[in-house]
Amino acid sequence: MTMSTLFSLVIASASALTLSKVPVPAVAPVVTQAPEQIRLTFTRDATASTMGIYWVTSNKTSDDYLATVQYGLSQSSMTSTVTGTNDNYTAFKIMSPSIHFATMTGLKANTFYWYRVGSPVYGWSIDFNFTTRPIDGDFSRYPITWAAYGDMGISNSQATADLTAKKIQSGEASFITHAGDISYADNRASINNGSIYEGVLNDFYNEVQPSSAYGAYMTSSGNHEAILGYLAYQKRNSPSLPQNGGPFWHSWNFGPIHFLAFDQDQNWQINSPQYQFITSDLAAVDRAVTPWVVAYNHFPLVCSNYFWCPDAVKFQDLYEPIFNAKETKVDLFYAGHVHAAEILFPQQKMVVERNDWNNVKSTMQIMAGFPGDIEVCCNDWYKPKPAWSYWREDDVFSDGGMFGFSEFTIQNNTHARLRMYDSNNATIVTELWWSRAV
Ligand SMILES: [Fe+2]
Repeated sequence: MTMSTLFSLVIASASALTLSKVPVPAVAPVVTQAPEQIRLTFTRDATASTMGIYWVTSNKTSDDYLATVQYGLSQSSMTSTVTGTNDNYTAFKIMSPSIHFATMTGLKANTFYWYRVGSPVYGWSIDFNFTTRPIDGDFSRYPITWAAYGDMGISNSQATADLTAKKIQSGEASFITHAGDISYADNRASINNGSIYEGVLNDFYNEVQPSSAYGAYMTSSGNHEAILGYLAYQKRNSPSLPQNGGPFWHSWNFGPIHFLAFDQDQNWQINSPQYQFITSDLAAVDRAVTPWVVAYNHFPLVCSNYFWCPDAVKFQDLYEPIFNAKETKVDLFYAGHVHAAEILFPQQKMVVERNDWNNVKSTMQIMAGFPGDIEVCCNDWYKPKPAWSYWREDDVFSDGGMFGFSEFTIQNNTHARLRMYDSNNATIVTELWWSRAV
């Protein structure tokens, strides 16, 4: 079975989701198959009336498990019900948990909801809540804040998971983007014939649940998802990913912001399917509706660390001019892969446009691959720091021992703020405001 065929099957099953009235017993049953790894995810929906959700139950989940979400405007009135799909896969002879996906429908934009997931027979999760998105073109939610990183595993990452969860649960941040390298389970694939691979994935998705059960957790793929033909990534992410591009490249909106995710590990050459998607998606943006355009990819276009950055040039050569062209302009681009943090001055082809942050014409470029993971790398920086690099992790931590994330706040149609956090100390290590030229 080809990857595209596999994905088509996943889409076909996802499209079979239907609203139904599931009888709810007056007395909640004992939870015999407890939901875990609960994760909200945006769909591509201009009216913000839908929200996708994943959860898993054990790999011994009963065949008659009716994956169900109950939701409503108050905790005492979760009267809407939707049912979803069950799926699983086998990796290294270990069966995955049963992966459930459903799409809540009929939601009102900018509205606070309660929900729980589970099964009428086998029990429910605790109650969670979230706030829906604004519709496309609704500017009333400014300022809009989200957390962003790539490269998060189950090692060295608890502080980032805790701090981002605090922000999501308090409403300070609305969602998280994770630009590839999810869990680093593949790094353990050689241990005991892969017997702990699936457990690492499960631990990861449980670690981020305090965020992902309360706000959308938007993923894209990185090199660490490639194992077994991206099997786990596709099974655990594809049903929700906006249906206009597939698991490896897709776009979605949050009110006045258009987000584009892609993956340089897939064919990105000129006129490849991914190239065609990126260029046509950007060209189709109605900037009166979504004045901000944000792109993320696992790999940077340009950076100043000997781990990977010398290899970025060929990708930069093709895509940086596209992101800076008027018709396909990207205001902000961020990436990971390098397990470190860097902020570039507004620049193109490493020629600095300006040394301040007013009326920036070039794509702002950020690297944030430092939330915490098992690998030790990426403390070998270009010396001296290039003129086009404004701030790097080694400006504050020379030993590469900082773990944290980026936080973006879009204040209005022209102004935005970037913060870099040190998660272990819960401190902001650098902050800047910029305005984009319009
Ligand atoms: Fe990577």
